[in-house]
Amino acid sequence: MSKLWSGRFQKKTSHLVDDFHSSISFDKRLYKYDIQGSIAHAKMLGKTEILTAGEAEKIVNGLREVLDDIEAGKAEFSVQAEDIHMNVEQLLTEKIGPLGKKLHTGRSRNDQVALDMRMYVKAEITEVVSLLRQLQETLLDLAEDNTETVMPGYTHLQRAQPVTLAHHLTAYFMMFDRDVERLRDCYRRADVMPLGAGALAGTTFPLDRHFVAEELGFRAVTENSLDSVSDRDFVVEFTSAAAVIMMHLSRFCEEIILWSSAEFGFVELDDSYSTGSSMMPQKKNPDVAELVRGKSGRVFGSLQSLLAMLKGLPLAYNKDMQEDKEPLFDAVDTVKKCLMVFGPMISTMQVRNAALKKAAGGGFTNATDLADYLVKKGLPFREAHEVVGKIVWYCMEHKKDLEHLSMEEYREFSPAVNEDVYTFIATDRCVAARNIYGGPAPETVRQVITRHRERLQQEK
Ligand code: ARG
Repeated sequence: MSKLWSGRFQKKTSHLVDDFHSSISFDKRLYKYDIQGSIAHAKMLGKTEILTAGEAEKIVNGLREVLDDIEAGKAEFSVQAEDIHMNVEQLLTEKIGPLGKKLHTGRSRNDQVALDMRMYVKAEITEVVSLLRQLQETLLDLAEDNTETVMPGYTHLQRAQPVTLAHHLTAYFMMFDRDVERLRDCYRRADVMPLGAGALAGTTFPLDRHFVAEELGFRAVTENSLDSVSDRDFVVEFTSAAAVIMMHLSRFCEEIILWSSAEFGFVELDDSYSTGSSMMPQKKNPDVAELVRGKSGRVFGSLQSLLAMLKGLPLAYNKDMQEDKEPLFDAVDTVKKCLMVFGPMISTMQVRNAALKKAAGGGFTNATDLADYLVKKGLPFREAHEVVGKIVWYCMEHKKDLEHLSMEEYREFSPAVNEDVYTFIATDRCVAARNIYGGPAPETVRQVITRHRERLQQEK
């Protein structure tokens, strides 16, 4: 079969080149959008009388049959036909005869691929947002069960001040909330219709671009033909948002890996979300969390590939841009797979409340509270900090913690300390007293959970 563009060529393409420049092996993924876009284009050609109504209808029906054939696994793609656009056109022509060759009137693959990619990115954003929302619901459920589960909060991975598991989990909820916002923001810019830009300079045919946009559910039409075919910002933006999601998941996984170690013992992953060792019979490994952490690198790599591919391209279309697909597709697949497995992994894990509580009380996590206590008794904070620093040093020397110092010992450091110090620095009170807006107090976190549950509910 001769190529759709073979007219000006005297020689056949080398088979090496055929293989090298063909993208059908991966861009076949776009078939649905390609056909939907072609159907809208054909309808428009009929409406504007560029084709007769009868011709347009035959093309539209033919395209629908091609779609059915592809979905039924009955269509065969060929490397010779290069990419999904020319494969669909070829399948159409096989089906309806020479009329199929009129479909491409006033259109180029350059604006066609820009359209397909935008439709694909829009659809995948919707899917990723719904996976993020599911994960957020899981986090709210878990948080709700753990508003009183006291655990150490860390800075520098050193125990710092007590928080609760619910507070820790809602921190991730907030991250995924921003991820949804980022994706929705990206959606707005992807949601602009490029068809009609032609190869680069529009077309002399009186196409109705706004009709096509409406048919395909785009909110607007692109305003510069050169930009329409050379813009892949929406691909970069989506992949960038995906990279941030992966970074969030990866941080969470790092914590789960640490928490499930014997050294922490804060959680135990369910057997169904862990794996064993082929050699060491005792092992139960957090492979799922490790893989999610590892896969974040693929998505960061995709983002780098896209930026590097685009950075030197003169306007307008260049074949380099065919290289946008595999990184994007890989980012989509990776982020979706990770989001799907992550929720069930955390909702089935056992939380070891006692271990969390024990760790929350150790390591002088109430030292700030003791300083605050002295401030309430009239000391300037800087002085209180100094006094408590000395008390901590004394405790370390004598292997004691702040709760178990006697009143005499306290008085050595400051006469301001009274019996009420013990209730003031008890771990539970340290958390409950942090009832500032955004703080870890159970009551405060419960309000956050309710507020966001209602918001997500309303969105449905
Ligand atoms: N397969 C191409 C791509 O993915 C489609 C556009 C090709 N245009 C061209 N003039 N070669 O970018």
